[in-house]
Amino acid sequence: MGQLQPPRTLETVRSFLRPVSVDDAQAIFDSYASSPVATRFMNFPRQQIPAEAVQFAMRCARCWEDRTAFPWAVVSKAGGDFMGIVELRLDPPKADFGYVFAERFWGHGLGTEAARAVVDWACAQPEIYRVWATCHPQNTRSARVLEKLGLALEARLENWEARPQLGEAAGPSLVFAKVLSR
Ligand SMILES: CC(C)(COP(=O)(O)OP(=O)(O)OC[C@H]1O[C@@H](n2cnc3c(N)ncnc32)[C@H](O)[C@@H]1OP(=O)(O)O)[C@@H](O)C(=O)NCCC(=O)NCCS
Repeated sequence: MGQLQPPRTLETVRSFLRPVSVDDAQAIFDSYASSPVATRFMNFPRQQIPAEAVQFAMRCARCWEDRTAFPWAVVSKAGGDFMGIVELRLDPPKADFGYVFAERFWGHGLGTEAARAVVDWACAQPEIYRVWATCHPQNTRSARVLEKLGLALEARLENWEARPQLGEAAGPSLVFAKVLSR
């Protein structure tokens, strides 16, 4: 993973990004992780009890320390609400990312705006030549976000990841990527 280290804080027009902390656990649970709608296409099971969010938030804090992943909480500038998460994983020459937002913030470009700050940072690193992400073929909102971020559809991978909410033990994924020429 080298010495690449993204900034702990990023700012967009409408949001602040900062590392997910254990204090975010209840907001994570309430905003998206317990929601059947928000977790429908995710590759992790919907959370049933807040203690699961505590475990996840602790994992996020550990990730920043051991640098296996960089999960930011996205907080609204207007009101300070926890809106969702964007996570970046660095594996030069490539980097991949994911995101999930609470439904009440969907449809206003907020997911794209926050993910763009992370993608822009990754694309600016000379060690990174490919920024990629996957989404379920039916997750048209997410596919649209990836297109808006400048990633292009590369492939459909069969049996790529589990999608517990869809009952898929090994479901298909679309791979999107931004390939950088250096
Ligand atoms: C994917 C997600 C982050 C999008 O966040 P968002 O803030 O709503 O995204 P944006 O508003 O920037 O863009 C959403 C796009 O989907 C489009 N869209 C809205 N409703 C749609 C629908 N029912 N079907 C298809 N596309 C739709 C919007 O028109 C918009 O595209 P446009 O700007 O060209 O009009 C959010 O829906 C989410 O958190 N989903 C659950 C988690 C998830 O699926 N994460 C991705 C895993 S790969």
